[in-house]
Amino acid sequence: MELFIDSANLDEIKIAASWGIIDGVTTNPSLIAKEGRDFKKTILEITSLIDGPISAETISPDAAGMVKEGKEFAAWHKNIHVKVPCTVEGIKAVREFTQLQIKTNVTLVFSPNQVLLAAKAGATLISPFVGRLVDAGEDGMQMIGESLQIIENYGFESRLLVASVRDTRMVTDAAVLGAHIATVPFKVLEQLFKHPLTDVGIERFLADWKKVAA
Ligand code: E4P
Repeated sequence: MELFIDSANLDEIKIAASWGIIDGVTTNPSLIAKEGRDFKKTILEITSLIDGPISAETISPDAAGMVKEGKEFAAWHKNIHVKVPCTVEGIKAVREFTQLQIKTNVTLVFSPNQVLLAAKAGATLISPFVGRLVDAGEDGMQMIGESLQIIENYGFESRLLVASVRDTRMVTDAAVLGAHIATVPFKVLEQLFKHPLTDVGIERFLADWKKVAA
């Protein structure tokens, strides 16, 4: 499973890039606004830190506006994936981007039927928001399993990107189900490395080594 970082914070992205296991970056208008920096500059700096899909989200409500914005984003860098919401207008825009060979990420996806529509339009990436489904009392991982089955049944080329990840368990569940990608906040990525028994084990090894070396 590929791992993306879900962040627009350059410090976090730099650290995560140094680990050598991050394959891409997702941003959204909330994450960009949180940093208080210029959108284009931020996206371009991110493309220089990680050589993989970088999602930049449109804000227009209609397909024509999304396509206009997306064409501009795509011209900034080859790795940019134009993020559009899963609405009628968004799906129309994705169809057009597909014809233009512009890579896309369909976002704010909450049902397997939305996955089916996005895949039919030729979306490169499709992002179900698992954490927000769980917040709403739904079984987010069941939705991921069903979505993966739909993609496999019909040989769609779209890749499922598990988004709105809240904790390390969601990363495990996504990987066990065979999700193609998970996009994960920095704090949760850091936690993926950790296990108390690893720390205890290191302490013991070092203590034993010191006895021999003394
Ligand atoms: C994904 O592309 C989104 O940026 C993100 O995962 C949303 O997560 P949230 O529900 O924590 O805002």
